[in-house]
Amino acid sequence: ITDQTRELLLSRIRDIADYPKPGVLFKDITPLLADPVAFSALTEVLSAFCESRGATKIVGLEARGFILAAPVAVRAGVGFVPVRKAGKLPGATLAQAYELEYGSAEIEVHAEDLAEGDSVLVIDDVLATGGTARASLELIRRAGADVAGVAVLMELGFLGGRDRLGGTLRGAPLEAL
Ligand code: PRP
Repeated sequence: ITDQTRELLLSRIRDIADYPKPGVLFKDITPLLADPVAFSALTEVLSAFCESRGATKIVGLEARGFILAAPVAVRAGVGFVPVRKAGKLPGATLAQAYELEYGSAEIEVHAEDLAEGDSVLVIDDVLATGGTARASLELIRRAGADVAGVAVLMELGFLGGRDRLGGTLRGAPLEAL
């Protein structure tokens, strides 16, 4: 990614104070999505990363991850696989629970969408605590596929997601634009 593209992307991310609750500074990507030049530049950078990793599938993490990942999959010429919150996928799924700050959550993938021989790039908007991304890597491996890498638009470094992902990456790159 060039400095110019990074500046463009940064300029299209809006900070919203006290959302969704007091004390949280929310990073809103809707201005980026609404700007075709910025959205296209982001898609280009992510698809170049996908190609450089030789990925055969892209997993997008519900919900904002879907928006970023789908055009990358089309551009890179690989399949798109949604990882969804529990209860949203109609077919046979693999499920993975993970811890939240308070309580736990569960994500699922259609078992038939990933297979041995697949090399999977995970795309999401934000890496925060890393819990969602880590659970997605576990799902991918349980489906028999390999992890090509994880790419996020933003990494909230102070939440320690990179460390939490750590060993689960098993050497695959974590790219935060
Ligand atoms: C946000 C974000 C990531 C995840 C990061 O999604 O889009 O998927 O949280 O958090 P973590 O690193 O602490 O796991 P959210 O659950 O808000 O879902 P949404 O995109 O459907 O709003």
